[in-house]
Amino acid sequence: MVQQRLPSEGKILEIGCGPGSFAENLIGRELTCLDPIPAMLAVAEPRVNKKRVSRGEQKANFIQGTAESLPFGDCTFDAVCTLFSFRDWYDKPKGLSEVLRVLKPGGKLVIVDPAKVNRIHGWLGYLYMKIWVGSYARIICKQREHPWKWLTKTYVHFGTTKDYVKMMKENGFTEVKSKLIFPGMATIWEGKRN
Ligand SMILES: C[S@@+](CC[C@H](N)C(=O)[O-])C[C@H]1O[C@@H](n2cnc3c(N)ncnc32)[C@H](O)[C@@H]1O
Repeated sequence: MVQQRLPSEGKILEIGCGPGSFAENLIGRELTCLDPIPAMLAVAEPRVNKKRVSRGEQKANFIQGTAESLPFGDCTFDAVCTLFSFRDWYDKPKGLSEVLRVLKPGGKLVIVDPAKVNRIHGWLGYLYMKIWVGSYARIICKQREHPWKWLTKTYVHFGTTKDYVKMMKENGFTEVKSKLIFPGMATIWEGKRN
């Protein structure tokens, strides 16, 4: 779903690549993966590059950094994507302005994260995470203080789909649109740099 929204060739940056679950399946693009946590990069690099080499592709680059201070020159990438990371950016407007800076003119940003369409959707999402995901995580992790508690917390503090359409426009993106991936809670936002 995200791959189809990215240009079929050119330089792609994934911000917040985590352990590389999305990056390993991004086929045929020149890829740079960025994450602030060295342990994430240490897992992602061998995983992603093993897959890329097996497909006969060039290895991806792995860089430590944050969205709010991207260590790249202006107009470097044809597209930027960020999956399940945007909600953690500590200064979203700053991160979006950094993305705009490193995109080439005509370049595209794709964001995926679980936003709320409205209050009811937000409430259902909260219950789903707290009860279903929470119970499952307690069983798997065999502890009450499991790491997925943070997922519920970041979800609760994350805004609505419309909030981030507005924020993207305010930070210079054009042709901004969003789509709820149904059934579920994830939203895809897209925007372009003129
Ligand atoms: C859930 S993981 C992402 C998983 C990955 N995108 C995937 O699909 O496999 C979220 C990642 O965002 C990173 N992150 C958190 N705050 C960030 C920031 N301000 N800038 C860039 N990445 C950030 C975290 O370190 C974490 O690895």
